[in-house]
Amino acid sequence: MDRLDTPDFDHYPITVLPVELTVSESELLITWEDGHRSCFPLIMLRDFSPDLVTFSLQTREQNISILDIPDSLSVTEAEICDDGFISLKWLPECLVSRYHPGWLRVHCPTDPKPQFTLPDIKLWPWGLTHIPVSVPADQIQQPAGMTTWLNGIHRDGAARITGLPQEPAALADVVTAIGPVRESNFGSFFEVISRPDADSNAYTAQALAPHTDLATREYQPGLQFLFCLANQTTGGDNILVDGYAVADMLKQTSPDDYELLSSTLIPFMSRGLDTEYRYHAPLLEHDRHGKICTIRFTYWLRSPMSGNQQKIAAFYRAYRRFHEIVNDPANQIRFRLQPGDLIGFDNRRVLHGRTSFDPESGDRWLRGCYLDREELESRLRILSRNLRAQQAG
Ligand SMILES: [Fe+2]
Repeated sequence: MDRLDTPDFDHYPITVLPVELTVSESELLITWEDGHRSCFPLIMLRDFSPDLVTFSLQTREQNISILDIPDSLSVTEAEICDDGFISLKWLPECLVSRYHPGWLRVHCPTDPKPQFTLPDIKLWPWGLTHIPVSVPADQIQQPAGMTTWLNGIHRDGAARITGLPQEPAALADVVTAIGPVRESNFGSFFEVISRPDADSNAYTAQALAPHTDLATREYQPGLQFLFCLANQTTGGDNILVDGYAVADMLKQTSPDDYELLSSTLIPFMSRGLDTEYRYHAPLLEHDRHGKICTIRFTYWLRSPMSGNQQKIAAFYRAYRRFHEIVNDPANQIRFRLQPGDLIGFDNRRVLHGRTSFDPESGDRWLRGCYLDREELESRLRILSRNLRAQQAG
């Protein structure tokens, strides 16, 4: 490749062609054959000019900053080429840029149509009894199988793979195909087994009510993976709860409690022998659009609250209500992992727990790890981009 078709190295189908150009001092107006009109600021088109001065083929990054673009920028020639590309000649640089019509149409500032979007979040319906998505191990090596699994984790909050080799390394083989593992003070990979020197409730045989992991961290891990290597004990069934659905129920039935859990800062605190993580955050967090984006619910890692005593008491009432909804069996999926099963779930949405088990009754060994959400999102984008490249030939 010695030239760039697009500044993002992606592939765009040409579904509609430009038919007319109008250049003004600061804008390019494109009229498309379907009648749509796109108005691009010239400075933005120059910023994303797909040429080898502006972008590097080697690094696939931009070579220039805004200060490298003359303030007196103008277009002296504009034409629609035979292949539908739009050619602009810039002054005073005398640079000629060729813009792909598919790229231009997708990036129309007033009507953008991204080639890839993540699937919409789907709350679990009341009474759901099983993890919505399950993919056989022999399909996970294929792009379509990986896409199905990752879409399930994003959309439904949890998805399973069945029938992986019953070897510890099988977990790393799958998750590193998504992206880098996020290490914690429990290591890159942690072994969920009952052991006498347990430094977490997870490493005992006691029941764990549904929770999120590592609420003490500023950036709570977005994804958790649990891979079953042995599960012969009496007890030790897994539990999952859709925390977003629980929050939604609370919002419908007790809006004041919802507001309290969205605004009251909880002092989260770990009490390890040589680590002490602390972070203050509400149980329910929202993004800049006001949509719920994080549940923080490692309920055993907290320290006393401070402030007005009535407010603290009101918080505790709301907090109890949240626990009650989480622990209602109708809101829980209960299942038994089989050796070779791997579940991936959104640790900032789906709460996980287990029933107690008798460690004398057999082996129980789950191997776990964390990744950040953005690794899953990046992998889905690449799978989608690769598919477009394949379709483009
Ligand atoms: Fe956990």
